[in-house]
Amino acid sequence: MKKAIAVIRGDGIGPEIVREALGVLDAAAAKFGHTFIYKEAPMGGCAIDEFGVPLPDSSLETCLASDSVLLGAVGGPKWDAQPPANRPERGLLKLRAAMELYTNIRPARMFQELASACPLRADIAANGIDFIVVRELIGGVYFGEHSTAEVDGEKKATDIMAYSEHEIRRVAHVAFQTAQKRRKRVTSVDKANVLDTSRLWRKVVTEVAAEYPDVELLHMYVDNAAMQLVRDPSQFDVIVTENLFGDILSDEASQITGSIGMIPSSSMGAGTRGLYEPIHGSAPDIAGQNKANPIGTILAAAMMLRFSFDMAQEADAIERAVDETLKAGFRCGDILQTGGTLVGCREMGTEIRKRI
Ligand code: IPM
Ligand code: MG
Repeated sequence: MKKAIAVIRGDGIGPEIVREALGVLDAAAAKFGHTFIYKEAPMGGCAIDEFGVPLPDSSLETCLASDSVLLGAVGGPKWDAQPPANRPERGLLKLRAAMELYTNIRPARMFQELASACPLRADIAANGIDFIVVRELIGGVYFGEHSTAEVDGEKKATDIMAYSEHEIRRVAHVAFQTAQKRRKRVTSVDKANVLDTSRLWRKVVTEVAAEYPDVELLHMYVDNAAMQLVRDPSQFDVIVTENLFGDILSDEASQITGSIGMIPSSSMGAGTRGLYEPIHGSAPDIAGQNKANPIGTILAAAMMLRFSFDMAQEADAIERAVDETLKAGFRCGDILQTGGTLVGCREMGTEIRKRI
């Protein structure tokens, strides 16, 4: 098969981790007889520097014309002083909206070889951590009107949070279908004791649940969910939640696995084209020093093969290569506490490539 992949290297450690992921994709292409064509799509701070805006039209067009998009990370302190509408993050939000990527999937899985990096108490970690956060990605307060006005001699800021039934319904379906392939339990997270958007969320998710009688549905308030994630994460299979809650809980979920540098994510819409990225940020403090862990991005590339290109064998080969590399004891700095041989970003990529 021949596939065009838009490549957003981004800022900070973005370029180095993407380079290793492309190397692994090339190894998989060679082994399985595919051709991947990479199209550069500058986005983020580097695009502000070069084009004055975080997502130039040319990059957006490249993404929309590709079969899928691979992203490293965007942002950094250099662009903190940009006006809100021109921050690197805005490029990402614009891209998500333009590609209509309403579902963000973030698996939180503890790698057995890295169990000692888990920050939770050993008896809690012993029950295992293996769940998926399904986050609504192009609605809610992220995309409501933002404004700051002068009212009665002081500034007053407003961010509008809105959800329509169809926006909730489509992501709820994804959550139930995801759970059907797993342990068949959906925990819907909201703040229905306070928010109207959450009361609507709960009503729609409950309606959708009726179409999936084999899947158990539980509702949980977001404050309780934040607590349950550290008290007993083994109770979760699929968590479905709105945009802002999902942003917060998915960071918490990744951190409790002890390996935030290892976790990929996919953002999908109605079609097969997705946006794949590691869930960590651009880590400007270690950028360009060959210290970043490329595994999150490499696993994101595997996710792309599986979900967008229907290449399950190829994705398995990459995931297996990652597991074997970890078993062989190779570690980047972020996961070195589990013991093993310290390697840089480039060497980690090479070790994984060798095992494809
Ligand atoms: C994420 C990030 C983004 C978000 C930022 C960079 C806009 O935190 O992907 O979780 O808030 O969605
Ligand atoms: Mg986030």
